[in-house]
Amino acid sequence: MVFMNNNLKATAVAPANIALIKYWGKAHEDLRIPLNSSISMNMSGAITTTTIEFSKHLTRDSVTLLPDKTNPSEETKDFSDKEADRIVRQISRIRERAKTSMFARVVTQNSFPKSSGAASSASGFAAITVAASEALGLRLSQKELTILARLGSGSACRSIPDGFVLWEKGNTSEDSYAYSLYPSAYWDLRDVFVIVDRSAKKISTSDGMKNVTTSPFLRDRLERVPERIELMKTALQKKDIELFGHVLEEDCLSMHLVMQTQVPPAFYWNAITESIMKSVAAWRADGLKAYFTIDAGPNVHLMCEAKDEKELSENIQTLPGVQSVIINKPAPGAHLVSDHLF
Ligand code: DP6
Repeated sequence: MVFMNNNLKATAVAPANIALIKYWGKAHEDLRIPLNSSISMNMSGAITTTTIEFSKHLTRDSVTLLPDKTNPSEETKDFSDKEADRIVRQISRIRERAKTSMFARVVTQNSFPKSSGAASSASGFAAITVAASEALGLRLSQKELTILARLGSGSACRSIPDGFVLWEKGNTSEDSYAYSLYPSAYWDLRDVFVIVDRSAKKISTSDGMKNVTTSPFLRDRLERVPERIELMKTALQKKDIELFGHVLEEDCLSMHLVMQTQVPPAFYWNAITESIMKSVAAWRADGLKAYFTIDAGPNVHLMCEAKDEKELSENIQTLPGVQSVIINKPAPGAHLVSDHLF
């Protein structure tokens, strides 16, 4: 991070990320130390931009969400009180580090609809962490930034390093951090994000995870994830799309099995999600190397190599219930920019 800052203002952009090996469950609730390590790819089509300015003249923090870039005519809609509180808590962690009590004005904008089901908490907490640390002149390493972002939202730590990222679960706050396995230009993959439902999640990820230990399948998942992490690393190293896809789908299904067998169960899929999963299997039987993965919602990420994107996109046109599609390439991690939002 190169811009050194004297004027208490900074802007960062950060991508959302799609988990290739999922994070579901915390070993430590407040510190957001996960039960298992995870791997992700940053998404070029789901970016958050955040400007923050601290000032001794402000009497409180304010957090404003601008209309997303796809709906410029839409009215500005602010965060809910709960969301704003969580952002303010993250700013306070950074204020504490910098030993200041100055309040801040935050303005943030997504490149994608907030309600699209794209992980706006990952890109959002990565962007605010990088921008606020810079604005207050903290000289943090990338590792320290990932640790700080993790405290805001676990998956946010994976939106800071470049491209393909591993979040090492660790045992303490200091050794639960994320780093890049390969830069974004390493492998020209596509994540075709198929949106079938724009409504907000019925069960937030933080709430859903709280019940993870009630699933009888958690133990099996946790035993198998280390091997899948190694297999995913091998798939990336060899650029082996078939191994990649096999491990991708297996880990997704393992996480959803745990979710669905928690007490109370967390069902994030709907009928359209399932029909897409079945269609992908049928397309694959016809030779198209495309694979699904799904986070905590009904929308589906379809992954393939760049050469297969056209055929995959054409096939998606034939699916019922698709509301929109966001095409993602592997993207760089969070970084500072000189254009501010205010
Ligand atoms: C299903 O990072 O949103 O997307 O740490 O409570 O903020 P908190 O959870 P969050 O969880 C993401 C869960 C997931 C899988 C993943 O991205 O690894």
